[in-house]
Amino acid sequence: MKIGVLTSGGDAPGMNAAIRAAVRAGIKKGMEVVGIYRGYNGLINGDIRPLDERSVSDIIQRGGTALYTARCDEFRYKEGVDKAVKSCKEHGIDGIVVIGGDGSFRGAADLSAAGIPCVGVPGTIDNDIAMTEYTIGYDTAMNTAMELIDKLRDTASSHDRCSVVEVMGRRAGYIALNTGIACGAIAVITSEIPYDLDAVINKIKNTQTTGKHHFIVVVSEGVGNADQIAKEIEERTGIESRATILGHVQRGGSPTVRDRVEASKMGYYAVTLLEKGIGNRVVGLKQGSVYDVDIQEALQMKKPFLEDLYKIADEISF
Ligand code: F6P
Repeated sequence: MKIGVLTSGGDAPGMNAAIRAAVRAGIKKGMEVVGIYRGYNGLINGDIRPLDERSVSDIIQRGGTALYTARCDEFRYKEGVDKAVKSCKEHGIDGIVVIGGDGSFRGAADLSAAGIPCVGVPGTIDNDIAMTEYTIGYDTAMNTAMELIDKLRDTASSHDRCSVVEVMGRRAGYIALNTGIACGAIAVITSEIPYDLDAVINKIKNTQTTGKHHFIVVVSEGVGNADQIAKEIEERTGIESRATILGHVQRGGSPTVRDRVEASKMGYYAVTLLEKGIGNRVVGLKQGSVYDVDIQEALQMKKPFLEDLYKIADEISF
């Protein structure tokens, strides 16, 4: 049996641990393993190379993805999927481990339907995949954001300022909420909870009267504009405010223990499914254990937001 491994969509720290686990599990089970470079583009273009056990040495501690990644427009259309199937046939690929986010899983479903079994492994810093409580890269990204916000707090504190920090997450507020609580933010603004700048400003004004003189506001990307929010806070409270967009730095860096371990577990599990000829599945974590579901089912699930954590964050920040 020959399996391929690819990473697709935005990179995430820990993807290398998942690649390593999938490659080593495949070899251990007597399979041939190939790396498919730059996601579905590499599959279509035949950018495919054999991997042995040493090919994945010395990558577990690295951010990014050793297989490179890309978003592939061509793969959204039947012609692209047909080319990919042809390429799989030419290279003798019997199944693929697809490490990525929701968009990558749609491609994996199409390819599975076209006769190439694919198993998705959730890799995205956003933690926005409903079927799993955890996605690879989430922990590292949150820790990176936390460290950077701690640094912003130092300077905000020295200058009696308000620091408005935008974190990543696409449409999801998990990174914002967790880093907000971890950094003692006065407010966390996410799309999941109705956004009320008046309430944030009143909270800042009230805490000023108790002697608080510097503030952190964490904003999830896509919810308002950090510059605009900082400007309004400054105008309405008199507190000098600065906006910082953390950006892609959150996607890099050496993965945390949690990312390496969960990625290893999920990468390994994906190969055990392919070994049995099972495709069209996504692997995830449920109460800490690895499990799998049908891709279409996974794509339709809705992820609950962390309302309880939001309430705690709100009630202890004053
Ligand atoms: O999905 C990961 C992510 O970093 C999101 O948080 C963000 O919205 C998006 O990717 C940025 O995409 P790009 O790297 O294409 O700018």
